[in-house]
Amino acid sequence: MKRIAVLTSGGDAAGMNAAIRAIVRSGASQGLEMFGVKGGYSGLIAGDFVRLGVRDVGGIIGRGGTVLGTTRCEQIKSEAGQISALRQLREHDISCLVAIGGNGTQAAAYELFERGLCVVGVASTIDNDLVGSDPTIGATTAVDVALEAIDRLRITAASHNRVFLMEVMGRDSGHLALASAIAGGAESVVIPEMETHPEVVAREIRAAYDRGKSHAIVVVAEGAKYNAEGLAGHFREHSQRLGFELRVTKLGHIQRGGNPGVFDRLLATELGVASVEYLSTGRAGVLLGRLNGAVTATPLAQVAHARKPLPAHQLTLASMLAQ
Ligand code: F6P
Repeated sequence: MKRIAVLTSGGDAAGMNAAIRAIVRSGASQGLEMFGVKGGYSGLIAGDFVRLGVRDVGGIIGRGGTVLGTTRCEQIKSEAGQISALRQLREHDISCLVAIGGNGTQAAAYELFERGLCVVGVASTIDNDLVGSDPTIGATTAVDVALEAIDRLRITAASHNRVFLMEVMGRDSGHLALASAIAGGAESVVIPEMETHPEVVAREIRAAYDRGKSHAIVVVAEGAKYNAEGLAGHFREHSQRLGFELRVTKLGHIQRGGNPGVFDRLLATELGVASVEYLSTGRAGVLLGRLNGAVTATPLAQVAHARKPLPAHQLTLASMLAQ
């Protein structure tokens, strides 16, 4: 009987468990033997496999994080690491792999594919910066977490007539920040893709007050040249001249925790099932994602080391609607 393994790698994202569940159960329904890899690519290199039956993935569809565990594995980038991973799969008689994760995960999957492994990726990262899926599993739930924070901050900001800088994750991409800013009605957004000097942000805040606003929320991406710390430093240094009171909130890993919302559960389920369908019909070397509303397979060669551009219209929207 054909054996398929699944792993989660890189930063955890809400919905990874729903994807694992879908992969295991759809594989089992086709008579495949399903295995989980514990601890991402590190576990693969170490041969840390666990047999997964349909009951083993019960009750996890609504749980955040990943029951398989995850790591950031440097070793898988090396030839020695990749060869060990392939050897472990061979020794356990596992013929195919599903790799759930973001950019680093899919880059490694591509390397393994190039070395002959039957592997497909499932797009999952809160950063939403992966080519081939719009959005990725976990991104929508992470934005929801940011929105809850913005809504709460706005209440206290309005009461005190303050400016709040709220920093969100996203590594070196601004997808998460931009979506949070638009959906949260932020007065300004600062992202890595566009260098924004603190004086520009200060002007936007001043203009918001001049238009009659009592407070302002600025969403800042952690990877921006001037992140929350950088901006706050500048604003404090020039506080007399700028004339607004400021507080800083860093959301950090709070955005990664929490349970997946309906969108991420459905997306993860859809992509998980599609990944098994793909492998069981002898196809491999692609990332399963959703594009224009449909499950789409994009060659890993186009995904690895590429970066999804920001939707240009969202940038226009953010500044137009901040009025
Ligand atoms: O890639 C997901 C992510 O949460 C990024 O947004 C963030 O920069 C990074 O992971 C943090 O990584 P770690 O949890 O390893 O500190």
